[in-house]
Amino acid sequence: MRPLSTEASSQAQGPITPASERFDPFDPAFVRDPYPTLNALRESEPVFFSPEIGSWVVTRFETVKAVLRDTQRFSAMIASDPLKPLCPHARNIIAESGFDVPPMLVNNDPPSHTKYRAFFGAPLTRERLQALKPFTESTVDTYIDRMLAGSQPADLVAGLTWDVPALVLFQLLGVPAEDVARVKEWASSRVVLTWGRPTEAEQVELSTGAVVYYHYALDLVRKKAESLQDDYISDLLRARNGDDSKMTMHEIGATAFNLLFAGHETTSSAAANMFKAVLADRKLWQAICAGEQALAPVIEESLRIDPPVQAWRRQAKEDVVLDGVTIPAGGRILLEFAAANHDPQQFPEPDAFTPGRRNVLQQVAFGAGTHFCLGAPLARIELEVMLKRVAARMPNLAIVPDQSFPYTPNTSFRALRRLMVTW
Ligand code: HEM
Repeated sequence: MRPLSTEASSQAQGPITPASERFDPFDPAFVRDPYPTLNALRESEPVFFSPEIGSWVVTRFETVKAVLRDTQRFSAMIASDPLKPLCPHARNIIAESGFDVPPMLVNNDPPSHTKYRAFFGAPLTRERLQALKPFTESTVDTYIDRMLAGSQPADLVAGLTWDVPALVLFQLLGVPAEDVARVKEWASSRVVLTWGRPTEAEQVELSTGAVVYYHYALDLVRKKAESLQDDYISDLLRARNGDDSKMTMHEIGATAFNLLFAGHETTSSAAANMFKAVLADRKLWQAICAGEQALAPVIEESLRIDPPVQAWRRQAKEDVVLDGVTIPAGGRILLEFAAANHDPQQFPEPDAFTPGRRNVLQQVAFGAGTHFCLGAPLARIELEVMLKRVAARMPNLAIVPDQSFPYTPNTSFRALRRLMVTW
């Protein structure tokens, strides 16, 4: 039994400092707007221990990137472990279900990771991803049609950014579109179970859902094996060619389980964050609508300024010193991408939305090094299509003033759940 991953038991502790006391990723004010706090912490104590999450928090761009690139001294094995160890009841639910997601991609290290990355990355060719563009365009148009036919104000998340990335991912994987709603709900539950601070009652409920979701992914791969088609999972099964030494059915099923999370939750958030940032600047929005502003720099800047993956984990394999702070072997580390992407040493005037920054591609929204996001090209296609089609068809789109912006409290995913707009 692997409770939603490896769930390492060792929890090295560090010293309590002013930053330790100031940092609470679940504080409602932080959840609403983490950047002022992260900026201040990066200046005062760029690396500190947080007892709240049992981790050292790393905030400087150079340091975050160096850790991401250093697979010798830092392990990714804990990346998707529950932040808060599960209660016995939730653990039992998982144990009894046969839940077993082995370390493969995001929560694995070389050399094992290298084999999985080659196998699961190979079919994600440029051609396969580009071929999804017409489907993405027609799906976005259908959603815009529905919004235009409906009443105003309306929620752009419910009306567009929530479903579209899942529908595109399902098209890639060859999954029936009617399952989108429940997979989206399962993915949101996984954010809370793994990166949130659920109560014991919530852990039990969320673990029950995770088990159903896991078996759904395994069944999907089993069914696909009975009739291969033109999709990514079929490509994997063809590459396996019945040979367990290449990849087992279970490993492909477990990867499908992970992709049914990684492949849309992030992109939905990226799209919502992008529209929120871009619509806040009327001149920029008008330039986009008039075709005077290239889209790629806008997309990259939106990923920099409000990254959907705000923070990601590593574990020290040996004693290490980061920015003068010693982290003992076994120490858990939270790399604050949100702070790194706002580091003025790297990005001058980091809190300003400035499309066309010379070095924007250096930012860490998609990670860096060995684990750099395998889906980044697809996410960029989706974001471009959404921005382009919305600008063409809803040029008067505007954010409803004085609304609150709800986010799910957790350490790692900045998932805007509602964005009320008029057009
Ligand atoms: C804007 C959208 C997305 C963002 C911000 C994002 C972000 C990330 C991040 C931060 C990582 C971890 C990098 C690291 O540890 O260094 C990652 C890994 C990964 N992502 Fe994405 N992702 C996005 C979309 C996607 C999509 C659409 C897919 C699939 C179609 C995908 C599949 C993966 C996979 C398979 C990995 C594991 C790669 C490995 O460990 O070798 N992601 N992503």
